[in-house]
Amino acid sequence: PENMLFSYKGILYPAVISSPETLEALKSFETRSDDVILAGYPKTGTNWLGQIIGELESTDAKYTEEEMKERINAEKKLKTFTRLEFGDPGIYERMKKLPSRRIIITHLPPHLLPPSILQSKAKILVLIRNPKDTAVSYYHFYNNMPVLPSFSSWDEYFPAFMNGKLAWGSYIDHLLEWNKYIDHERIMMISYEELKEDQVLGMKRIAAFFEFSLCEEDFPRIAEKTTFQAMKENSKETHGSFGDILFRKGVVGNWKDLFSKAQNEEMDQKFEDCLGGTKLAAKMKY
Ligand code: PPS
Repeated sequence: PENMLFSYKGILYPAVISSPETLEALKSFETRSDDVILAGYPKTGTNWLGQIIGELESTDAKYTEEEMKERINAEKKLKTFTRLEFGDPGIYERMKKLPSRRIIITHLPPHLLPPSILQSKAKILVLIRNPKDTAVSYYHFYNNMPVLPSFSSWDEYFPAFMNGKLAWGSYIDHLLEWNKYIDHERIMMISYEELKEDQVLGMKRIAAFFEFSLCEEDFPRIAEKTTFQAMKENSKETHGSFGDILFRKGVVGNWKDLFSKAQNEEMDQKFEDCLGGTKLAAKMKY
């Protein structure tokens, strides 16, 4: 289990998907001004939003079936992933060959992103989810993924989450960092909860931000295709056996099953101490 995670610049990563060499090579990633970037801490709903963005982008681009196949094949042939920091160090050279617009997903906070992302004209959609549900989702993920260490109990896990002793570090630190960019014109923040509450409205905000133009009737069609149930049913095709672990519950408020009263108070206090009064906190419903 000690080898399941490695530390790079003080942050843990799963060895199965990345390496210090990859994170070193990440600096050479060249951002294109039309790259569509999605950033979110693990378990905030990045697969969901990634799917939504893919549907919005391809509807706007009006790819033919042939073009769509070519795009999928290009990714397969080049063995690239949609996740920025996943893969072998050669991935950044191969990503140069992908056709535009590339959709790039990352779990990294701003200071760990390749400098070209924040300097370019590319837009970044930042996904946030209330820290309690994120913690619970990550707990189940850690314990269900054979390539990650397991925790013997929720009580053993909780301090690890609170202290950022998990892959990709502390969620609160991520939020604090992204909060600094909240008014940046090329960054938009959206929450898992607002998407759950009104997916069509959320998708319209996203489309407007990336300047995708869609017809009114596209939105409910895409919303239907990307419900938790629909994505779970299709997950064998999209995610293989990983889908069984990924599509767990897909609801707001699941934290109530595991948080004790004291843990709930501890989280509220930490959130208030670190993020109280910020614009990000105002966006975070829980
Ligand atoms: S990962 O492993 O970090 O890439 O996970 P990520 O995709 O970011 O987050 C996984 C959680 O998102 C839920 N999910 C969804 N919720 C609502 N609608 C849809 N379509 C959807 N797809 C995935 C997934 O169930 C995980 O949350 P939990 O709370 O564990 O169910």
